[in-house]
Amino acid sequence: MIYIKTDSEIQKMIEAGKILGQCFDFLKEHIKPGISTWELDHLAEKFLKHHHCIPSFKNYEGYPGSICASVNDVLIHGIPSKDIILKEGDIISIDMGNIYHGYQADAARTYGVGEISKEAQRLIECTQKCFFEAYQQAKVGNHLSDISAKISDVASEYGYSTTKEYGGHGIGKEMHEDPFIFNYGEKGHGVILRRNMCLAIEPMIHQGSDKIRQLDDGWGVASEDGKLTCHFENTIYIDNDGPHITTIDSIVEGYLSNVER
Ligand code: MF3
Ligand code: CO
Repeated sequence: MIYIKTDSEIQKMIEAGKILGQCFDFLKEHIKPGISTWELDHLAEKFLKHHHCIPSFKNYEGYPGSICASVNDVLIHGIPSKDIILKEGDIISIDMGNIYHGYQADAARTYGVGEISKEAQRLIECTQKCFFEAYQQAKVGNHLSDISAKISDVASEYGYSTTKEYGGHGIGKEMHEDPFIFNYGEKGHGVILRRNMCLAIEPMIHQGSDKIRQLDDGWGVASEDGKLTCHFENTIYIDNDGPHITTIDSIVEGYLSNVER
């Protein structure tokens, strides 16, 4: 069942997203060669708690971290570790969830560590474009799959594939609510979108094949072919004038200020 939020619930979703966006801008300053993903996890947890929030991933179905930190071929759910030290040229996807006054925000970013290759840069650019084009489809009266179709359309323009086994989701009091949002599809299917629906839209893009493999820790998911993967996610709510992103950081701000111009 899809929960439609009240206006006062939307206000709390906005607040949860705002603090999560600030946490990303804080974390990205620390993404440099030599830092471990464990240290990034520790910094994020401290930041959220300091802002009277709860990191939602911690203990979620037994998950040990406050963030997922997925490097290079690792797509999602990378467990932070003292042994995983970032090096020049890596790309790292950080996925984080936040609870504020009982309401959730969920977002992911992929950052480059130092100088990265043209190919890695292009993958990140594509994944952000997938999100920003797809989220504009989240309008009152559109079909859910209009979002999914845009993600796979943009990815194939770049010659990339999208993850088939994981996708976006409704979000509210729970991190994962209905509906599930595929990262591929065709327009015109699924539920009709309504005002005050809240969704986490999260393109996951593969430089090579969309085949995945599970890491031995039981959490991490990586590309089977070892090629780079990328993740970009935001929480949005739908108003009569269109979709609004709650998880605003400098990347989203940059995008929004270009659109206004
Ligand atoms: N944030 C992920 C999602 O977008 C879920 C993280 S799973 C956790 O759906 F176990 F790490 F919390
Ligand atoms: Co999510």
